[in-house]
Amino acid sequence: MMLYPNLLSSTIIGDLKLSNRVIMAPLTRMRAGPGNAPTKLNAEYYGQRASAGLIITEATQISQQGQGYLDTPGIYTDEQEAGWKHVVERVHSRSGLIALQLWHVGRISHSKLQPNNALPVAPSAIPAPAATARIPHEDGFLRVLCDGPRALELEEILGIVNDYRNSAIRAKRAGFDAIEVHAANGYLLNQFLSTNTNQRTDSYGGCLENRARIVLDVVDAVVSVFGAGRVGVRLSPNGIFNDIEDTDAEEMTSYLARGFSERGLAYLHIAEPDWAGGAPLSDEFRKSIRDNFKGALIFCSNYTAAKAEKIISSNIADAVAFGRAFLANPDLPERFRVSSPLNEADSKTFYCGAEIGYTDYPALTKDKGNSELEHKNS
Ligand SMILES: Cc1cc2nc3c(=O)[nH]c(=O)nc-3n(C[C@H](O)[C@H](O)[C@H](O)COP(=O)(O)O)c2cc1C
Repeated sequence: MMLYPNLLSSTIIGDLKLSNRVIMAPLTRMRAGPGNAPTKLNAEYYGQRASAGLIITEATQISQQGQGYLDTPGIYTDEQEAGWKHVVERVHSRSGLIALQLWHVGRISHSKLQPNNALPVAPSAIPAPAATARIPHEDGFLRVLCDGPRALELEEILGIVNDYRNSAIRAKRAGFDAIEVHAANGYLLNQFLSTNTNQRTDSYGGCLENRARIVLDVVDAVVSVFGAGRVGVRLSPNGIFNDIEDTDAEEMTSYLARGFSERGLAYLHIAEPDWAGGAPLSDEFRKSIRDNFKGALIFCSNYTAAKAEKIISSNIADAVAFGRAFLANPDLPERFRVSSPLNEADSKTFYCGAEIGYTDYPALTKDKGNSELEHKNS
């Protein structure tokens, strides 16, 4: 008898038909090639994980201004678009589905990464006291405290929304099945939502509706390219990563969930705080998200297959995203199906190591029986 019948069952999310509800969470790996373009190695990595119900890519910057770490991929040049096309083709050739996570880091950057070494931008000129960026240094890199930021002018906000639209156009040409708007984890859109980082006095700051405005503008821009049934948003209510201290995160989430619902978005993806700190989500809050949003709900953070099965069978979630487990187990749904042990993720190679800790995690062998592991490098 299969242990996880709900988790491993197919489902419809917006316009997408998923073969299972084991989603690959977005995972920054800092292994893009020259010009921040995806490479053959990146295509191999995503291709290995094509059995996910849906792959959500690593966060991908919409402009150079949106970059905060060295070697993260972008989607604003022809070279980057071509690299992503190759990745998408590999995933599709293995019958997988893949969504691109669109990203602007806002204040979580450093002038060394910015166009003309300008200061990073944010809703307000409020630095992130403890957050770091990763910048080039001699032949390698250095982790440094973020510098700046300066507050965005009103017209510049319209320009950023336009960058999201242009990135979505490129993503569509590259063949992506969907877009995930990254409004979580303390990056630009989350900086607009949160009370401690947004102290603007114009139509993008102040009351909750104003702080939410840019997220809805971005969603509308991306929907105009992909259609609502192929757009999702990631939020991280109560999360404190990157120095977020939001006093009304739950109310904001409910407001946004209603706005996304009215627009018919495919899914809402909740990155739970227990991964990087913050008060855990209450059962009442989870239920209120369900009540406010009619599309599919995905939860993520520290899930095991058993915990995921439970949250899906009790109808709190429609699917669950797995980060570190998918990073270390390219065939995660199959391992859940046969109750195989999981490879451990090695945090030392999360953000470096080329193929090591990236494409060399072993899959189960098909010919030797499912309980044996294939040791490609032994
Ligand atoms: C190496 C690493 C990179 C991550 N990169 C991203 C990212 O690019 N975008 C994002 O929204 N979350 C990112 N996260 C957060 C994960 O998507 C996920 O929320 C977190 O790992 C908790 O899930 P897990 O317990 O299943 O790993 C990252 C996490 C890790 C460990």
